[in-house]
Amino acid sequence: MMITSRTDAWRSLHAHAARMRQHRVVELFAQDARRAQDFAAEACGLYLDYSKQCVDAEVRSALFALAEACELSAWRRRLYAGERINGSEDRAALHMALRAPRDHAGFAAVADEVHAVRAAMARFADALRGGAYRGVSGARITDVVNIGIGGSDFGPRMVCAALAPQIDGPRAHFVANVDGAELHALLPTLDPARTLFIVTSKTFTTQETLANARRARAWLVAALGDSAVSRHFVAVSTNAEAARAFGIDSASTFGFWDWVGGRYSLWSAVGLAIMLALGPQRFEALCAGAHAMDRHFVEAPPQSNLPVLMGLLGVWNTNFFGCASQVVVPYAERLSLFGGWLQQLEMESNGKRVDRDGRAVDYATTPVLWGSVGTNAQHAYFQMLHQGPAVHAIDFILPQVADHPFDEMQRMLVANCLAQSAALMRGRSADDVRAELAAAGWSGEALERAIAHRVCPGNRPSNTVLLPRLDAYHLGALLALYEHRCFVQSVIWNINAFDQWGVELGKQLAQRIADPQQLAGLDASTRTLWSRIYPQG
Ligand code: F6P
Repeated sequence: MMITSRTDAWRSLHAHAARMRQHRVVELFAQDARRAQDFAAEACGLYLDYSKQCVDAEVRSALFALAEACELSAWRRRLYAGERINGSEDRAALHMALRAPRDHAGFAAVADEVHAVRAAMARFADALRGGAYRGVSGARITDVVNIGIGGSDFGPRMVCAALAPQIDGPRAHFVANVDGAELHALLPTLDPARTLFIVTSKTFTTQETLANARRARAWLVAALGDSAVSRHFVAVSTNAEAARAFGIDSASTFGFWDWVGGRYSLWSAVGLAIMLALGPQRFEALCAGAHAMDRHFVEAPPQSNLPVLMGLLGVWNTNFFGCASQVVVPYAERLSLFGGWLQQLEMESNGKRVDRDGRAVDYATTPVLWGSVGTNAQHAYFQMLHQGPAVHAIDFILPQVADHPFDEMQRMLVANCLAQSAALMRGRSADDVRAELAAAGWSGEALERAIAHRVCPGNRPSNTVLLPRLDAYHLGALLALYEHRCFVQSVIWNINAFDQWGVELGKQLAQRIADPQQLAGLDASTRTLWSRIYPQG
């Protein structure tokens, strides 16, 4: 495979970037009455407006040419066909199979096992939600606690928060951190007789998860005795043997497969907490939305393909337009955990310094991704987005209709979201500031001194993604949109989005530091810090 940055398409985009730096997006709107329509696309109920990006039709065509040079269509086919595109682990990445309906033509090799596990999850969910599955003392289960971290936590935690008003089953709680504060705060709020723990770990070797699970088991045993464990603990894992060693037998273990990457796993049994809290039907709706987006991604031409457009715009902003980071701001309180999920998805997938062939890349890969919900974010870091020296790319995500009755507040929320993207694009010129201040009675030196502080450069790029509402179907489509955007970018950067070797080093050292024998072999700083905290070793 050719080095991406040596392709003509890549070089031509640098020339376009030099050209675009002479333009302002507001001018592009002035020249093109149809820009708002022509730089927008719609699929699965989601509407993407990218007209506030600093791109014109020529840049867009050049980005499509780059996608072609990087063989995006072929990679997409390989992903869909279940080829082992995760080269460093020799695995496929078949998360699309997890959300395809039973009668879908693709994914034949894995469809039976996927749907067998899904059916087992649904049977369990129906039994628990309906009261047929009870605790060891005969009490109904009112609370489920998912113990897992990373991909075994972010997805189900975020979905349960996003769809919280629709929860009609047990309350769902999530414990991830090996900081015992999280579990310690939760346990006193629970009744052991009414609590089910789900130990969710692909490998069932993750230190944090096992530490939390052992503590939770001790708490349960202290209250209900050893015999309660099999009734109050289930596992979600690819490693049924390790789950059994922990005390959870295979009948209570919901399996998945090595071709499900942790950060792409909420659609698998990792989503059990979602299904228990929201019911099998809403889980199906979540999958249906994601599947609709999968089909759109696989079938739609680049011009109207949301993940392709967003992926290429991300590459443009990162590699050509000079953006310092990618900010994601959902204008929806219930999407407050979306950024955390997305950080793992994008930065664990594409935070790589070598390409698929192991060659060091000479271009930026994933940008720092961050953000939080609007309007709160406006009162935190938006000052920097408007007037800081660096330009950041922003995604605004906005459900159009609220699921609360406070209509006037929803209108205000919408107005704020649209105002921010407009303000970031338009900015405020020195002439405008001068005119405003003069109209307010300012004059002379005081007026001139005030101007520079009030100027906003504008031309700061953003996407706006509208969802009709925050329901399971459209949430599923939104999550799949971002999964595929991430994949598109990995193809352009020619990196393997499905391994995460960088995480391993820290994990290994954490084990070594806690072992006095091995600590001696580490650096002086680390040894000194440890012995300040644990003078006795
Ligand atoms: O953070 C690294 C990682 O391997 C993630 O990819 C994964 O989601 C997480 O740890 C948890 O792993 P497991 O599900 O095996 O406990």
